[in-house]
Amino acid sequence: MVGRMIGTLFCQRDGEAVDEGLVKSMGVSNFNVSQLERLLSVCRIKPAANQVELHPYLTQPELVEYCKSKGIVLIAYSPFGCPALPCPALPCPSGENSPVPLLENPAVKEIAQKHGKTSAQVLIRFHIQRGITTILKSNLLARIVENAEVYNFHLTRKKIQTLEGLDCNTRFIK
Ligand SMILES: NC(=O)c1ccc[n+]([C@@H]2O[C@H](COP(=O)([O-])OP(=O)(O)OC[C@H]3O[C@@H](n4cnc5c(N)ncnc54)[C@H](OP(=O)(O)O)[C@@H]3O)[C@@H](O)[C@H]2O)c1
Repeated sequence: MVGRMIGTLFCQRDGEAVDEGLVKSMGVSNFNVSQLERLLSVCRIKPAANQVELHPYLTQPELVEYCKSKGIVLIAYSPFGCPALPCPALPCPSGENSPVPLLENPAVKEIAQKHGKTSAQVLIRFHIQRGITTILKSNLLARIVENAEVYNFHLTRKKIQTLEGLDCNTRFIK
């Protein structure tokens, strides 16, 4: 029901803004696959982008594939796992609970060390190589510069798989 209402609003109201040349393209946020399917079944103007939480603890492979197949750009928010928030207990594949902040995760740190990069740079590179755009945020100039220096190294397929293997379907943003 909510999806249908959003779809109707998306199609009717915002579509007018595109028709009138007031906006170039429109996007959605926090849409899962079934919500996107409902939206695409009724919308006249396809959403250009979907902004969702994505990082190695929440890799959302089905959503990634779906958006790629439909030509919808995925934009990852909270790429560092919200370091300012308390880390939730993370159900690991082994069944243990391991509340390790993403930037402190040993696998992320090890990859960073091997490349002479920071954990943050590895987490950004992870998205770039998965074909995903990322929203980055820092109040510190040094970190803004650091976060831009991610185009001079490459993660092997194995390292991407290691990072994908950290997935425990954990959201930091509730
Ligand atoms: N569409 C949505 O529903 C939605 C939901 C949540 C967030 N967002 C957007 O997504 C963006 C980022 O997400 P987020 O703020 O939730 O989480 P995040 O990117 O995981 O974490 C941001 C925090 O990471 C720190 N940081 C940045 N660069 C760093 C680095 N190189 N090393 C260590 N720490 C670093 C920053 O602290 P310092 O400032 O101290 O550097 C910043 O407060 C924001 O623009 C937000 O508006 C959208």
